[in-house]
Amino acid sequence: MTTATTSPAVTTAPAFTADPAAHRVLTGDRPTGPLHLGHYFGTLQNRVRLQRQGVEMFVVVADYQVITDRDIADRLAEHTENLVLDYLAAGLDPDRATIFAHSAVPALNQLLLPFLSLVSVAELNRNPTVKDEIAHSSQAAVNGLMFTYPVHQAADILFCKADLVPVGQDQLPHLEVACTVARRFNERYPRADGSPVFPRPEALLSTAPLLLGTDGGKMSKSRGNAISLGATEDETARLIRGAKTDTERRISYDPAGRPEVSSLVLLAALCQDRAPEEIAAELGDGGAAALKRTVTESVNEYLRPIRARRAELATDRGHLRQVLRDGAERANAVADATLAEVRAVMGAI
Ligand code: TRP
Repeated sequence: MTTATTSPAVTTAPAFTADPAAHRVLTGDRPTGPLHLGHYFGTLQNRVRLQRQGVEMFVVVADYQVITDRDIADRLAEHTENLVLDYLAAGLDPDRATIFAHSAVPALNQLLLPFLSLVSVAELNRNPTVKDEIAHSSQAAVNGLMFTYPVHQAADILFCKADLVPVGQDQLPHLEVACTVARRFNERYPRADGSPVFPRPEALLSTAPLLLGTDGGKMSKSRGNAISLGATEDETARLIRGAKTDTERRISYDPAGRPEVSSLVLLAALCQDRAPEEIAAELGDGGAAALKRTVTESVNEYLRPIRARRAELATDRGHLRQVLRDGAERANAVADATLAEVRAVMGAI
């Protein structure tokens, strides 16, 4: 086994210029609960932008990844449909983006087997994101999927030969696994003409700085500190009213020195599409109450059309399931072709 791993190239602004249609994007989320503003400004908005530019997009609902840090995937069908609901409300167009659950694509999952042979146990053991998830898991014992799911995620990316993966910083170790798997597979199993089967995927990092939860910690649905896309305006106001701030009346944008206040300023800035420094200057000596009023209004105004669309789409669960069925059909065709190619270069019959 070769020991060198391959780091992904990282970009924040891909240069599609000439031919956006020559690129394929894959990204995805675990169906564990509603998407929140951290997801929206961290990646969803970016996906909609890419879609508008004409890039081909695959979005995986990573249902098998739910059972890495918990025993049972609670209300899986409901969470899966609601994830699709959030996607569509945010602006993903199922006619242009292939939205599918990875458990519905057998050939994708079968890629896991040869891919597992390309990584060492030592490499699986030192993945920092996996280590962090183990540290935060409430399970009594760590299961085998926890160590191997980054290789499964490589299959998510490589089955459709995606060359661009919009992700947050925490996913970079997983992208390194995908790049390493791609390179080792290509080295070990070249095509007859010597050309590689898999492209090397590149990470597309969001330029938006990290939004904190209303308690100043990492924004997460399980911590009750996140404003979900589907929350009502009253719920939104209540969460922001209870947000942690400090006692200084003067509002400033200083993420390192005043993380909680700055995250609120940033949220208003993202919603208004303005610079956070400008918002802070405008608020001046207004104090936390004025800041929270501005943030609440900005968020509710920004999300109003998204929430209206979401409420309308939510009345037709059959449509959400149909989107997943159509997506699975397209994803299966692509995965079947890739698996056939993989089996051929490996010399399987
Ligand atoms: N691991 C990602 C998360 O927890 C979800 C995911 C699954 C993903 N497969 C992916 C992200 C492929 C990017 C590409 O959010």
